Amino acid sequence: MTADKIKIQILPSLLAADMGNLLNGALTAEMAGGDSLHVDIMDGHFVPNISMGPAVVASLKHNIKIPLCVHLMLTNPGKYIGRFIESGSNPLFIHIESNGDVLSILSEIHKHNVVAGITINPDTDAKTIFPFLEVVDQVLCMSVHPGYGGQAFIYEVLPKIRIIRNEANRIGKRNLTIMVDGGIDFETTALCAKEGANAFVAGTFLYKAENMSFAIAKMRQIAEKMFVS
Ligand code: DX5
Ligand code: ZN
Repeated sequence: MTADKIKIQILPSLLAADMGNLLNGALTAEMAGGDSLHVDIMDGHFVPNISMGPAVVASLKHNIKIPLCVHLMLTNPGKYIGRFIESGSNPLFIHIESNGDVLSILSEIHKHNVVAGITINPDTDAKTIFPFLEVVDQVLCMSVHPGYGGQAFIYEVLPKIRIIRNEANRIGKRNLTIMVDGGIDFETTALCAKEGANAFVAGTFLYKAENMSFAIAKMRQIAEKMFVS
């Protein structure tokens, strides 16, 4: 498959914006050409950090047009899924490492016509998500340990991206979105695209860029050139 058959997506991660001025950070991402805004939800239990809640997502939903790609880092996502759906999260990602019945949470997300995704941590074996590949719309591959922005990319994750892309191809889901999150810059975008990633979450790199529009355009160009299905 060629790059023009799968959509390359660049997602600024709001975690790296000014926490006291989130709307401004979201609008910056939208105006710079971000395909979606990545929003990290942390409960202080599944990960040590605490970030935003559904009320923040709902407020952003009223003020920006691009989709809100919500990454739940929660021990019990099933308990909160309804509130995140109501707030306008779409796509909505849960972690394979979370508690609860993954299949029933994914089907609850789908019942509301929301795009459902599964997230996998750097230390988790790729095979653990294979049973869910048939039902999910997107896979989020963590390339740092979740919880904080600004960490260094974990290179050992690269073969895992390829394993997941190959398995998706094998089962006929050639258009599955495989997203990477953590330590993404121009260099790591190229490496991940080569292994089959087509969506790229970048916080620190994009919000620190002198010109976010330019950085997004360049990242997209690199991904399109390097993507291997
Ligand atoms: C980490 C989050 C990421 C984070 C990435 O737990 O899931 O979305 O914002 O930040 P950078 O791009 O700074 O590594
Ligand atoms: Zn994230």
